[in-house]
Amino acid sequence: MTASRFFSEAWESAQRHSDPALFASGVQKLPYADLVNAIDKLDRNFISEFVHSFHGGEVYIFTNAFNPKALKDFKSRAIEWGKKQQSREPRIVGKVEDYRSRRDWHSEDHGPGYSSTYDMMHFFRWNDDPIGGYELFDSQYRIQRIISGYEVDSMDSNTPDNDVIDRVEVSHYPTGVGGIAWHSDPIEATRFALTVNLNRFGLDYEVGGFAVGTGDGNVLPIDPMIEAGSLVGFLPSVCHGVEIIDPHLSADWSDQSGRWYVAISMITTHRSNDRKFTRPVEGYPTLRQQINQVRKN
Ligand SMILES: [Fe+2]
Repeated sequence: MTASRFFSEAWESAQRHSDPALFASGVQKLPYADLVNAIDKLDRNFISEFVHSFHGGEVYIFTNAFNPKALKDFKSRAIEWGKKQQSREPRIVGKVEDYRSRRDWHSEDHGPGYSSTYDMMHFFRWNDDPIGGYELFDSQYRIQRIISGYEVDSMDSNTPDNDVIDRVEVSHYPTGVGGIAWHSDPIEATRFALTVNLNRFGLDYEVGGFAVGTGDGNVLPIDPMIEAGSLVGFLPSVCHGVEIIDPHLSADWSDQSGRWYVAISMITTHRSNDRKFTRPVEGYPTLRQQINQVRKN
């Protein structure tokens, strides 16, 4: 048996037991090394408890997953690379180049969808890894494959001709306006979303950031709990969002301010016929409501 098999087995058991959680039930902090060890040792009990726990809505903060200096350097490389890119929105067919896209999209203006204001860089494995994301996040991609029930080396050469591809996403949420509205992502290739903060709540920004919903409009902020070098993991269907970064300040899209983070994701390509979509969660404020709330006071 491989670790991937144990994870699949635990996932199927959790699915039989209940539907995947739509809201967070709490937060667990765990050294990243404990997760890696459990996987390497094929610790079936750990794997089973862990899968049932995140399937039920527990959000995980894995500490000491990275050297904070390596993340800082990575952020600098992202900024330099991003400066040379025009914003684009290509369809992911064929081996597209890496690209940057800026979004300032509000469902109040455009109809159904989830609002988001950010600048995102997309890196694909078939390109030449210009800022070293695949190198830096190699261990986390391995973990991502295993937790989602895939064999480790099964998808490294995938292209949009396959159903699932890797995408390293580096996002900048600008001060004063950056955020992503409360939403629930479909559970497709990725059963456990992995994200990495590249800068710090309380240091680089004072208000807002990644948070999860616990139901009835209630919110559990995650960013204030994250130490430098941590990895965050959660079930994609759990209500989550990025609350507006420093909504009391005026909009500033410059790279040096705001919130920076990475998503280590495997995505379903346009090729897939049954592609599901992200949906907004009712009962939570829109991005504009979040800003207006603060500026009114
Ligand atoms: Fe999401």
